[in-house]
Amino acid sequence: MTFRLGIIGAGYLTDVALSAATLNLAGTVDLVAVYDTNPVNLAKVGAVHPSAVLTSNLDEFFAAGLDGVHVASPNDSHACYAQATLNRNIHLLLEKPAAHNPSAAADIAASEQRSSAVCVMGYMFKHAPSYQHALALVGSGRIGQLQAIIGTYPGWRKTDWHAERAASGLGCLTDLGSYPIATATDLLGRARTRIESIGWPRSDQPEAESYAAGTVWYAGGARLQFEVTGVFNDHTPYPAGTSQLTIVGADGFIQLRGVWNMGWQTTLVVHDRSGWDESVWEVPDLYERQYLRFVQIAAAGSVPEPLSIDRGVHDLQLLHDIAANTTVMAGAR
Ligand SMILES: NC(=O)c1ccc[n+]([C@@H]2O[C@H](COP(=O)([O-])OP(=O)(O)OC[C@H]3O[C@@H](n4cnc5c(N)ncnc54)[C@H](O)[C@@H]3O)[C@@H](O)[C@H]2O)c1
Repeated sequence: MTFRLGIIGAGYLTDVALSAATLNLAGTVDLVAVYDTNPVNLAKVGAVHPSAVLTSNLDEFFAAGLDGVHVASPNDSHACYAQATLNRNIHLLLEKPAAHNPSAAADIAASEQRSSAVCVMGYMFKHAPSYQHALALVGSGRIGQLQAIIGTYPGWRKTDWHAERAASGLGCLTDLGSYPIATATDLLGRARTRIESIGWPRSDQPEAESYAAGTVWYAGGARLQFEVTGVFNDHTPYPAGTSQLTIVGADGFIQLRGVWNMGWQTTLVVHDRSGWDESVWEVPDLYERQYLRFVQIAAAGSVPEPLSIDRGVHDLQLLHDIAANTTVMAGAR
């Protein structure tokens, strides 16, 4: 039986990743409806999926008869569409960050509690074999007790809602910062003890963060160090970025280059007492893998904790705690 999918938000993510992923999964996951407020963006998806309902009317969207909805619209609209989906007992795949602020994210979690459907977080990198391998290596004790996680994700964005505090929440801190934070929770858990961070602009500006860096300490002494940038540049066709994760243990380290990107090959380096091992991992389509996992989870009716909305709420709260702890402006204006 095919899984009938609807997508809300026909922008960059849908154009470069979701549209192709659903085309490749046709017969298993069928894209039957797309909702967006912009008819030009709807038409782009329609060129690839001519039989899908393309609409700016939410009732018409849900009338398509959906098993699941992927919410991939701007962050401040996540809660409204997530709740509309869960209230209809339709399974939800929710893009990161869960929402533009923690209370909107908590509203989504409460809707899931009342629904017979599940909410799965769109942490697509968690479906990458290289990432799963790195976590398994850490779990096996290969690099000893964890000391530090170092995550960098410099990138650039268009000057659109990503730059506006009201729509994005925390700018690049939530956009690209979601990745190192989600990984830190995977590896270090939730028991944190201290935060130090810097950012630009500070949270009292109408513009959202375009630079953020900081350190989060966890019980036991391990720490996350991260740096993200969201420089705005309107002259190139698409947003871009380059990510790197280094996991430092007492007996070695693991490095993943490209791990949080949308589908580049990933280089995995493992350095421990036995020497230096470097391998290149071709990345399968993360969005196809994510949809297949979404269908499985929906059928099982229970969400693994690392993909749960509880996790989405936790990670977003941590990002907001980091913003609230920002003590130094990176620059002056
Ligand atoms: N997991 C990933 O790999 C990944 C990558 C990119 C973006 N994202 C997430 O996906 C979401 C969308 O990001 P994007 O880069 O595609 O943004 P985008 O601006 O390119 O696209 C947003 C789309 O939503 C539409 N839209 C705007 N307001 C709307 C509203 N109120 N209701 C319905 N549609 C509306 C716009 O017309 C546009 O088509 C964000 O939450 C972002 O964090 C995730």
